[in-house]
Amino acid sequence: MSRADGLSLHAFTDLDDAPEIGPYVAALEEFDRLPLLVELKHLGIQRTRTGPGARVLDVGCGFGLESLRLARAVVPGGAVTGVDASARFVAEARRRAAAEGLAVTFVEGDAVALPFPGGEFDVTRAERVLVYVPDPEAALAEMVRVTRRGGRIAVIAPDFDTNTVGVGDRATTRAILAHECDTAVVNGWLPRRLGPALAAVGAHEVEVASRMVVLTPDLAAAYFAGVASSAAAAGVVGEAVAAEWTAELTRRRADGTLFAAIGYYLFTATV
Ligand SMILES: C[S@@+](CC[C@H](N)C(=O)[O-])C[C@H]1O[C@@H](n2cnc3c(N)ncnc32)[C@H](O)[C@@H]1O
Repeated sequence: MSRADGLSLHAFTDLDDAPEIGPYVAALEEFDRLPLLVELKHLGIQRTRTGPGARVLDVGCGFGLESLRLARAVVPGGAVTGVDASARFVAEARRRAAAEGLAVTFVEGDAVALPFPGGEFDVTRAERVLVYVPDPEAALAEMVRVTRRGGRIAVIAPDFDTNTVGVGDRATTRAILAHECDTAVVNGWLPRRLGPALAAVGAHEVEVASRMVVLTPDLAAAYFAGVASSAAAAGVVGEAVAAEWTAELTRRRADGTLFAAIGYYLFTATV
């Protein structure tokens, strides 16, 4: 798949079936640099008190973008472990850790059945992962189980109904974006469930922060082209309407007038 075809977020549910992971690696790297998301990550580090000596678990670590950064934050005396469902991402994470000379452990595993004993970590985090997990409450229960009493957990996730893009008329854009929210991931409204879910698994001192993360024009154009084509394929809008919408997207990207953003939430809690 090339960037011109648009990115489908469905693929993050089973990356090992995707024809190639290159476009997903590139998109995650681009997302990872967005300044407002970076702010939220830093706040997560502060609120979980992730520092020297901490034993950290990164659930759904992907190819280790944040795990590798955290590995530097926990020296001396700490350790970072990443777990991900994708064998290809785990292999890429190990390759990157070796290239950077960082001792991070990466293992393949499912967020709802974490392959670790209870109380193993001081901090357990999951960034942009639980929207893909059919039973996020089960994943949170696992995060609580593997975190020591008094330890901290952090979840960073978008709410897909906050997707914003300055293209098209309201009815068309609303129809396209609602389809994306309802189909791209299993939990498009995840942040609305997180507070009650954390309470249900016994976490306390729950704090919430958010950022409206503004996308770069390139990332927005690649992502929303895929969103429009998926809505057209499902018959939510006609092919001609989707083509016109995508043409405006492409034109705005080229002339520098493309605005797009999505709301991200950080939930932190004590176990
Ligand atoms: C959007 S990526 C985010 C990766 C990383 N956390 C980051 O922020 O760069 C979503 C990741 O969740 C992983 N994933 C999806 N479902 C999972 C599950 N049930 N258990 C573990 N990992 C899962 C995917 O393989 C993918 O690496």
